[in-house]
Amino acid sequence: MRVLVAGSHGQVGRHLVRLLSEAGHEARAMIRDDSQAGEMEALGGTPVVADLEGDPSPAAKGCDAIVFTAGGGPGSGAAKKETVDRQGAVKLIDAAGEHGVRRYVMVSAMGADDPESGSEGMRPYLRAKGQADDALRESGLDFTIVRPGRLTDDPATGRVDAAASLGRRGEITREDTARVLLATLTATNTHGKTFEVLDGDTPIDEAVNAL
Ligand SMILES: NC(=O)c1ccc[n+]([C@@H]2O[C@H](COP(=O)([O-])OP(=O)(O)OC[C@H]3O[C@@H](n4cnc5c(N)ncnc54)[C@H](OP(=O)(O)O)[C@@H]3O)[C@@H](O)[C@H]2O)c1
Repeated sequence: MRVLVAGSHGQVGRHLVRLLSEAGHEARAMIRDDSQAGEMEALGGTPVVADLEGDPSPAAKGCDAIVFTAGGGPGSGAAKKETVDRQGAVKLIDAAGEHGVRRYVMVSAMGADDPESGSEGMRPYLRAKGQADDALRESGLDFTIVRPGRLTDDPATGRVDAAASLGRRGEITREDTARVLLATLTATNTHGKTFEVLDGDTPIDEAVNAL
């Protein structure tokens, strides 16, 4: 499977590029700075330079799937939430339609369906994420929306809790999140579904296949 990873140079993205490569997939690693190409190649990815705030559509040509794990980042203001987190994701939804890419896996966030419940600082981010998710649901693509809790850099455990609604908030490691994305990509049972995921007790493949 040839997978476009938007946000490949990010913390989850780097894990995902390596995991895709180890699993025998081709990770087309979207970077916006050519100097990051060597790092992507060292992880087993094939770099492609594209900017979500420009026209990223050509990067999707010839791919079987897209994973959106990009973001303006916690230090960015409301403007970046709009141009990267929402518009960037929507540009790749449109690109998927244009290039016949059927599969799209979105890294969303817990709380994206109820932005007003977040803190004032989080609301623009959660709104942007929620609107991007809505656009994906309406796209007609084979989509899955993955909503992790707070991301940590702890070592992976390989075990998670995943469900449409977990009824609690919590954390998950970035590497486990990437492992969930890898499992989700080929799990046809997750097509058309939105699910939350946190650190937990169930082996990742088992948790994803049970959704
Ligand atoms: N932090 C949390 O607790 C949390 C919780 C739930 C969900 N999430 C979501 O999880 C995902 C991954 O998080 P993370 O911590 O791995 O994020 P991250 O390390 O901040 O990585 C984000 C990536 O997006 C890229 N990016 C930003 N603007 C771009 C643009 N205009 N064009 C192309 N790429 C661009 C960045 O590129 P550069 O490397 O060039 O800067 C970076 O590689 C994000 O979607 C985030 O919103 C985060």
